[in-house]
Amino acid sequence: MIMSRILGTGSYAPDTVLTNQDLEKMVETSDDWIVERTGIRERRIANKDIASSDLAFEAAKKALKAAGMKASQLDLIIIATVTPDMMFPATACIVQAKLGAKKAIAFDISAACSGFIFALAAADNFIKSGLYKNALVIGAETLSKITDWTDRNTCVLFGDGAGAVVIGPSGNDCGIRSAHLHTNGKQGDLLYIPGGGSRNPATAFSIESRMHFIKMRGNETFKIAVRALEEVVNEALDANGLKASDIDMVVPHQANLRIIQATAKRLGIPMDKVVVTIDRYGNTSAASIPIAIDEAVRDGRIAPGKNVLLEAFGGGLSWASALIKW
Ligand code: ACO
Repeated sequence: MIMSRILGTGSYAPDTVLTNQDLEKMVETSDDWIVERTGIRERRIANKDIASSDLAFEAAKKALKAAGMKASQLDLIIIATVTPDMMFPATACIVQAKLGAKKAIAFDISAACSGFIFALAAADNFIKSGLYKNALVIGAETLSKITDWTDRNTCVLFGDGAGAVVIGPSGNDCGIRSAHLHTNGKQGDLLYIPGGGSRNPATAFSIESRMHFIKMRGNETFKIAVRALEEVVNEALDANGLKASDIDMVVPHQANLRIIQATAKRLGIPMDKVVVTIDRYGNTSAASIPIAIDEAVRDGRIAPGKNVLLEAFGGGLSWASALIKW
């Protein structure tokens, strides 16, 4: 069977930095609380006129350059996002036009923080089936636009950014070796945005009730996340006949440093094998894994032949892992 591999990576974050000290002036919080409970020190925030497609476009250009490919060669573009530019068309269609990727079909995937792994798995299967030869997979978010800046429980957590990978057929045993995806819609109310869709379309009431912002029961989500991540990582290890010690680098979704550390500890993986970016970017939902991958590829921590494990948990609820031999 054809296996797909990552040919190039790219990422982009807006220049504007919002520090914990800035947040201390906005809500009743402290740098100490945020660092101790989340590991976040600062996050990037997009300007008013910047949308998710703008960040995705910048990340995509870098990934195409790294892959040595032209946009016109792309067959498929998938964007994972919970902050699309608009209800429709899909943000992937907007990026297809910006890139001039005329031949590519394009669509979005909504799986919150697990979105990038869901999108990567979908693109991988299109290539495995032989339908398409290559794909651009992007995680792009402007969470600052759906953050309630008066709610200290959530506003300290999120940031904006985008990461992208180009995938194509692998000529050897390197590539995406497995993906395990899970959903539990029964617990969807732990983390959601009630307003803006067909259930609660925008009205004066929905705006007054702050229904267009993220609602999260963080503590309950935390406990479920740690358990689910351990299970889904073990699924990846079992499916590939690997032990935790065979993993060279883990790229986790960056929701909370304590979740990342607890998961690594349960699996017996030392933290020097885990890519951490949450201190500088906060939780960028679907963008966090591809941003972290790009950083680790560029500084050499991820290199050919290494076993790289991706893991994520988020709204849906949804959770996932993927094992890549780089
Ligand atoms: N500053 C100061 N105090 C705060 C803040 C803040 N920013 N936020 C909450 N507190 C207070 C609370 O009010 C509470 O006070 P109380 O005890 O007087 O009621 C206290 O701190 C503890 O609150 P908890 O919610 O229990 O704090 P916790 O240690 O659980 O940390 C956090 C909260 C950081 C949200 C954590 O639960 C978490 O990271 N959860 C998981 C998030 C996650 O993984 N989400 C999925 C991915 S996101 C996605 O899919 C979009």
